Amino acid sequence: MSIVLGCDVKMSAEEFRLLRDMIHEHCGIRFDDDLKYLVERRLAPRLALHDLGDFTAYHRFLRFSHDREKEMEAAVELLTTNETYFFRENYQLRAFSEEILPELHDRNRSGKRLRIWSAGCSSGEEPYSIAILVLESGLFHGWNVEIFGNDISQKVLALARGGEYASRSFRQTDEDVIRKWFEPCEKGLRVSEKARKLVTFGHLNLLDERRISLVGRVDVIFCRNVLIYFDKQAKLRVLRTFYDRLGRGGYLLLGHSESLMGLTADYELVHLEHDLVYRKPEGGQQHGWSTKIGDAS
Ligand SMILES: C[S@@+](CC[C@H](N)C(=O)[O-])C[C@H]1O[C@@H](n2cnc3c(N)ncnc32)[C@H](O)[C@@H]1O
Repeated sequence: MSIVLGCDVKMSAEEFRLLRDMIHEHCGIRFDDDLKYLVERRLAPRLALHDLGDFTAYHRFLRFSHDREKEMEAAVELLTTNETYFFRENYQLRAFSEEILPELHDRNRSGKRLRIWSAGCSSGEEPYSIAILVLESGLFHGWNVEIFGNDISQKVLALARGGEYASRSFRQTDEDVIRKWFEPCEKGLRVSEKARKLVTFGHLNLLDERRISLVGRVDVIFCRNVLIYFDKQAKLRVLRTFYDRLGRGGYLLLGHSESLMGLTADYELVHLEHDLVYRKPEGGQQHGWSTKIGDAS
């Protein structure tokens, strides 16, 4: 049972375990025991909103109420980390524009189609950076270029669709890029129409394999600073989904602190000049994932 102190409701260890497991099952994010305080603090406003006396009642609400799906979305909004900015991990983006894009240009020349997925795109800085790099490369005039950004949080997707950003989003953006691809707006800077036209956004949970099959085949997946919050089982589920979505020889770009070591050998590690990236092997089966969930130690 929770202990009520004034208007502060404390979360017991058992309540934490129940809520943490539910959230993990829903979206893959894993909270270790030392993060109980964070879950407690972030979810506390939901108790007040629904007039619930403790976290046991909140857990019941999340499990059984009519509004349980809506409430889970609200809880996840409060628990995700949405930190992002334009041109994050610049050296990797250099590898993308100087090495990967020319290769894809040659490979897809006959169909003139390029498809890129920014999985866990937060407020949109990542997919818009990708769009600017594709345009800057000058390789894809007259091509059908599609960049798809998805996130589990509706709040950040609304910001992404707005395409307007304050200065903190530009901590790593060159002045000439700003002059060329952004225009002033009340909030700060708005992404140019030309770049915006390449990007579409959608609400998608990376653990929802059924809906993700609608994404279609892609050439590159950016999934940076998302899987770090997942446990091994959830990471493997998502990596298998990515494997199925990638065309043969398609690239998977993770955040700089993330690696597939100890998870799966189904992707090959490619040493590009500017970065190490992962790739689905040229000879890879379209549905040939060999790592069993639970296999990796
Ligand atoms: C730290 S941000 C990373 C943004 C961007 N990729 C970058 O590197 O700058 C992580 C994003 O992943 C999203 N996310 C977490 N779990 C997710 C899931 N199961 N499905 C889709 N998006 C998820 C969060 O909402 C958050 O916006």
